[in-house]
Amino acid sequence: MTQSFPTTLTRTPKPRQADSALSFGRSFTDHMFIMEYEEGRGWHDARIVPYAPLTLDPATTVLHYAQAVFDGLKAFRGADGTIRLFRVQRHAERLGRSCAGLCIPPIPADLVRQSIEALVAVDHEWVPSTEGTSLYIRPTVIATDVMLGVHPSHRYTYFVICSPVGAYYKEGVKPVRILATDKHVRAVQGGLGESKAAANYAASLSAQQEAERQGFTQVLWLDGVERRWIDEVGTMNIMMKIGEEIVTPPLAGTILDGVTRNSILTLLRDWGHTVSERRISIEEVMQAGREGRLTEMWGTGTAAVVSPVGELGYKEERISIGNGGTGSLTQKLYDSIIGIQYGKLPDAHGWTSEV
Ligand code: COI
Repeated sequence: MTQSFPTTLTRTPKPRQADSALSFGRSFTDHMFIMEYEEGRGWHDARIVPYAPLTLDPATTVLHYAQAVFDGLKAFRGADGTIRLFRVQRHAERLGRSCAGLCIPPIPADLVRQSIEALVAVDHEWVPSTEGTSLYIRPTVIATDVMLGVHPSHRYTYFVICSPVGAYYKEGVKPVRILATDKHVRAVQGGLGESKAAANYAASLSAQQEAERQGFTQVLWLDGVERRWIDEVGTMNIMMKIGEEIVTPPLAGTILDGVTRNSILTLLRDWGHTVSERRISIEEVMQAGREGRLTEMWGTGTAAVVSPVGELGYKEERISIGNGGTGSLTQKLYDSIIGIQYGKLPDAHGWTSEV
């Protein structure tokens, strides 16, 4: 049952864009969920209010030291009009782990889930209905002490906003070109890599810009110590098929425990594939590519779901994967996840919940 929170409805509803005009994360719904934390009081004043700017003192901690975490999940409207959230509890639990990584007092996962369910229920008309579109939901926690000392804040704000979105990549499920970099790193053991920390995304920008300058879509991140072990791709987890083995880097401290990653590994194991969560070096991948054993590679994430990789660059070498097209397993994975999300395929693992 959806928990209810004190709700103030907007008096000035915004016009909604046609599904065909939606891009990623540029327009927002009429309402947002918000609550505050103060030491001694805990999380309090949970409420749904009209979507509006936050007012922050220029000395607010988050603006200086990036003590902020977020998560991202989606609601989908099926052909019969039913709205489904995809793995909301898992996202809520991950937000709690991200909070712990940045000394933010964790929000109980059930409360995060309820905040999302309640907000989507209020803004249900904003969930688009064309296949490929969805409502992207962004729960976020920021540190709100007003001080310039570097230590964990005593106050926080949690808010949830929603954005009706089209496909993450304008060009659709088309293979992307990725560039492995040994110049920049995203995360190191003992750092923030396994938290969905705002700072991780700031740390990715200059490498991403350089990859784009060289004509690539995303960066393939290597580990921060030896600069040879594959970590992630862009903002996604990475997987590949080498011979009959499907390989993805293990959750060993530097990469995010992706919800799509977990869903895809589950499906692959259901289907009887050999799946290895193991360290894999860029040299091994390049060698497999040269020998024609690297037949498919794809990124997984909530925003893009599954993103095929058609070309991999490393130093001066360029390797084409699966002749640059979308592999049959990559396509099957995309279709299966999308099918479950829109209620077209059976949800054997109970991943979706109706709002
Ligand atoms: C995702 O793939 O879901 C992401 O984390 C991307 C998001 C930061 C836009």
